[in-house]
Amino acid sequence: MYEIILKKRNGGELDNSEIEYWINGCVDGSIPEYQSAALLMAIFFRGLNFRETTELTKTMENSGKVADLSEITGVKIDKHSTGGVGDKTTLILAPLVASTGISVAKMSGRGLGHTGGTIDKLTSIPGFSAEMTQQAFISQIKAIGLVIAAQSGNFVPADKMLYSLRDVTATVDNLSLIASSIMSKKLASGADAIVLDVKAGKGAFMKDLAAAKELASLMVGIGNKLKRRTVALITAMDQPIGMSVGNGLEVIEAIEILNDGGPEDLKELCFALGGEMLVLSGRTESYAEAESLLKNNIANGSAKSLFKKMIDAQRGDSRVVDNPDLIPMAGKRLAVKSDNAGYVIDCDAMKIGRGAMLLGAGREKKDSIIDLEAGIVLHKKTGDRVSSGETLATIHYNDSKMLDTAIDLIRQAFKVNVSKVGKTPIILGKIDS
Ligand code: URA
Repeated sequence: MYEIILKKRNGGELDNSEIEYWINGCVDGSIPEYQSAALLMAIFFRGLNFRETTELTKTMENSGKVADLSEITGVKIDKHSTGGVGDKTTLILAPLVASTGISVAKMSGRGLGHTGGTIDKLTSIPGFSAEMTQQAFISQIKAIGLVIAAQSGNFVPADKMLYSLRDVTATVDNLSLIASSIMSKKLASGADAIVLDVKAGKGAFMKDLAAAKELASLMVGIGNKLKRRTVALITAMDQPIGMSVGNGLEVIEAIEILNDGGPEDLKELCFALGGEMLVLSGRTESYAEAESLLKNNIANGSAKSLFKKMIDAQRGDSRVVDNPDLIPMAGKRLAVKSDNAGYVIDCDAMKIGRGAMLLGAGREKKDSIIDLEAGIVLHKKTGDRVSSGETLATIHYNDSKMLDTAIDLIRQAFKVNVSKVGKTPIILGKIDS
């Protein structure tokens, strides 16, 4: 291990066998954390080239139990977002795309920091269980063509170890380490085709468009090299997606879309990602055909009915889809009002996400307990007109411990100015090869 650290420290290129030696030693405990930490820092400064990054991804993928979906006929598709605020697209897209006849087999994570996780959101449906065996996972796809499950204990253990080391050694924000971490989990989930939603902006990992494009190109390159059809959309994360942030609140908003309502930006994002999923999987030839199929399956209720079936199959109360009031809500509400009149020129996703986390909707640390009922409902977003004293956002909370700090963050998130700014686009680019 000393030789491997020295080689990378001096700017050398690691052989496949050296990468395998490191990852296997991490997982079996034979390599001490201080040596892995040193190598991570050497990688941070010296980088990994495409071959090294692809090899690292493949070795990490195989460090634990890999899902074998070969029993399921047809294309299995997955989507992944690099993490956003108010991003409930999976709750909508999974049943919507599956309702067109393609299997959607998804293993999702829990939220961390200011970004939410799909499993936490689904857990706000009374009774819903995301824990299941590999056999139950496969049986459910065979039965209804749709499953969203939590990643099990032995799922890509190398990533669990490396991510916690990166977290405490200031080595998270390296493109090769991010790409291998995300793609190893996508590959281990067993799908044949992957649509990536790479977020760019204030509330994202990648704050600027150029960095988001670089990350997207690297992940698409790795996916295609490892024989999974992969494309990425780069999408805006300067302000939250839709109008609600917080687990139960986001499920309610997702249900609104499945009931043919809901905010326009969320709808646009879902149709763009859904279109990529249908074209990539070969379900439709064109994006226009995909969009009309997706719109039709919302209007005729088939996406909604599949969402109910999935909730039933995973022991949740599917009556929430017709009666969202059955989702438990926080006991207390507080309106944050605008001090002046004008137009909203900023609604900072990072500040809103951190505000929601402080109210209990997100995890500060991996083992924090979250409040599924807490969150923030936005009444205004960038480009909207606001009068003095009008409500910008409503806070939903049970615990008032961090309420004042959350209010401050929400106040800081909104900037109101006399001159209007236009609505900002949500789709910023696409990487497909
Ligand atoms: N998400 C991941 O899963 N891994 C990273 O390294 C960053 C974001």
